[in-house]
Amino acid sequence: MNNFKRYTVTTALPYANGPLHIGHLAGVYIPADIYVRYLRSIGTDVVFIGGSDEHGVPITIKARKEGVTPQDIVDRYHNIIKKSFAEFGISFDVYSRTSNEIHKETASEFFLKLYNDGKLIEDTEEQYYDEEAKQFLADRYITGTCPICGNPKAYGDQCESCGTSLNARDLIEPKSTISGSAPILRETKHWYLPLDRYEDWLKEWILNEHKEWKVNVYGQCKSWLDAGLHPRAVTRDLDWGVKVPLKDANGKVLYVWFDAPIGYISATKELTNDWEKYWKDKDTRLIHFIGKDNIVFHCIIFPTMLKAEGSYILPDNVPAFEFLNLEGDKISTSRNWAVWLHEYLVDFPDKQDVLRYVLTANAPETKDNDFTWKDFQTKNNSELVAIFGNFINRTLVLTQKYFDGFVPPRNKFEEIDISTLEELKCIPTRIENSLDNFKFRESLSEMMSLARLGNKYLTETEPWKTFKDNPERVQTVLNIALQICANLAVVSAPFLPFTSEKIFRMLNLPSMKWFKAGNTDLLEPEHKLGEPVLLFEKIEDKDIEYQINRLEQIKTANDKESEEIKVSPQKETICFDDFVKIDIRTGKILEAEKVPKANKLLKLKIDTGIDIRTVVSGIAEFYNPEEIIGQNVSILVNLAPRNLRGIESEGMILMAENSEGKLCFVSPIEDFNPGSEIK
Ligand code: 2FM
Ligand code: ZN
Repeated sequence: MNNFKRYTVTTALPYANGPLHIGHLAGVYIPADIYVRYLRSIGTDVVFIGGSDEHGVPITIKARKEGVTPQDIVDRYHNIIKKSFAEFGISFDVYSRTSNEIHKETASEFFLKLYNDGKLIEDTEEQYYDEEAKQFLADRYITGTCPICGNPKAYGDQCESCGTSLNARDLIEPKSTISGSAPILRETKHWYLPLDRYEDWLKEWILNEHKEWKVNVYGQCKSWLDAGLHPRAVTRDLDWGVKVPLKDANGKVLYVWFDAPIGYISATKELTNDWEKYWKDKDTRLIHFIGKDNIVFHCIIFPTMLKAEGSYILPDNVPAFEFLNLEGDKISTSRNWAVWLHEYLVDFPDKQDVLRYVLTANAPETKDNDFTWKDFQTKNNSELVAIFGNFINRTLVLTQKYFDGFVPPRNKFEEIDISTLEELKCIPTRIENSLDNFKFRESLSEMMSLARLGNKYLTETEPWKTFKDNPERVQTVLNIALQICANLAVVSAPFLPFTSEKIFRMLNLPSMKWFKAGNTDLLEPEHKLGEPVLLFEKIEDKDIEYQINRLEQIKTANDKESEEIKVSPQKETICFDDFVKIDIRTGKILEAEKVPKANKLLKLKIDTGIDIRTVVSGIAEFYNPEEIIGQNVSILVNLAPRNLRGIESEGMILMAENSEGKLCFVSPIEDFNPGSEIK
């Protein structure tokens, strides 16, 4: 392993504005929990830190929408989240929250220390202010027209229609979502962390000293550092958050990303008075488990804060995970495209370990990964039931049947006994190596290789056939199989804690620490076993179909909704003078033919009343030439001629286009004289 004396393991604090889904578990909390359970099992001094992130603008927006206070929102979700973690066996030593007093004190002190040591810059800038609501507006509280795509409902930080990251100042005709009024720009003072001053140090610390970080983490850090760092505001004009502890900072709070990681420290304080050794002793190894969207905060900004403060250790590793998708689509709270943990437990009560298993096997370690219900069923039925559960069940049932539930003695060994026990002894080290390198999928598969070994051993030794003629041989076989069961109880504990406990109970053994793994004498002859219970049960097709149907219904509802909102946004306002420049006339199609080698184009001869002219129109996918002869059309006649496929096109036929791109004529409904003006 390494020379550290103790560990501080943190997990990203989830925002307390919604329940947890499988993506949360797969990409942060299950791997962290496996790691910590393993560390504890090898006797490491470790604190496992979690908590809810209860500040930030989305929480205030949700509260305003529901007509409740932000505190109501976070109280509600903090409890739901905390319960889900407990139900899935995420074994935090403390699960705290950033609205706790101790956190406010800790975060304020941290800020003050930086401020007093001259580590922050003070600067004034102009920001949008709502004169009616009498408050500065966070970017999310401003909507307006996207300067890129024209979406009239873009937010101050992002346009959800074209996906562009925006600055509130970029929006055309910005509006406050609080009062609906147009905000004005007003000067406001803020405090900044001058990241640029730490750039050289960060480069040395990350790029040279932490080459062992995961490729995705190292790569993201490198591109931030290569692009150059700038001072970052650590305060905001808001009333929800940790108040800036300065006299001239009324109405200002710490930026949520400044206070949230300090939450790890305050949670540790809440856990133990001896917290400093977990944060200030260089013999402590600090590890942050996070999702990939949090990399910059945990690898660049928080370490800079810690470095600037001066008395803290820095993270030694930041295993960040990619994202888990659901049935090929990004998990999305707003589209309800998720498997919610509390709902899973209603449909699959007591199957926490099945989900832990499937999510670990599919952990998005190096790339985004997909969760599908079919795969969930397969992994349960053909791995947990058919291999793991089947082996343990067969061993216990046979021992019950032949030896009344007493561990039989071992007699003379055959070749297969020796090789099986040798293999058993190697497996724990392989699991350890994988875990030490944060390779959770690999470690899980090593753990399963022990169950496979057991299954293979029983299949090859066939005690059910041998017993009649050679009960002594069966004594040896079942003794060895039982030692494998006991070893499985030990090594499965970090991954499948509920199952591991059940196995220990079935074996009538106390839970055992990791150092027992690889031991081939965990069960003494004559030891009386407990009652066998079924560890895993088959998941039926109908249960999976139910889940798939549920998702299909959600998809249909979402598609319908997006169909409804697929109307493209209104374009920028033009003045009347602009409009009258446009000359649109009624016209009639006299001739139509396909343009060679152009699937979409028809060459039309149009009677415009003014003249007869050629227009090339992109309607060939929707109309056959012969069916549109005589069709009344509206035509823009004063458009500058354009050359299309070698044909001069002198105008444009007006067409309506729906969200699927289908075109149809926009024509006078009566047979109007060609050349009539359309105004
Ligand atoms: O991305 C998130 O969900 C944040 N709430 C994570 C915060 S991690 C830490 F800094 F608290
Ligand atoms: Zn846009």
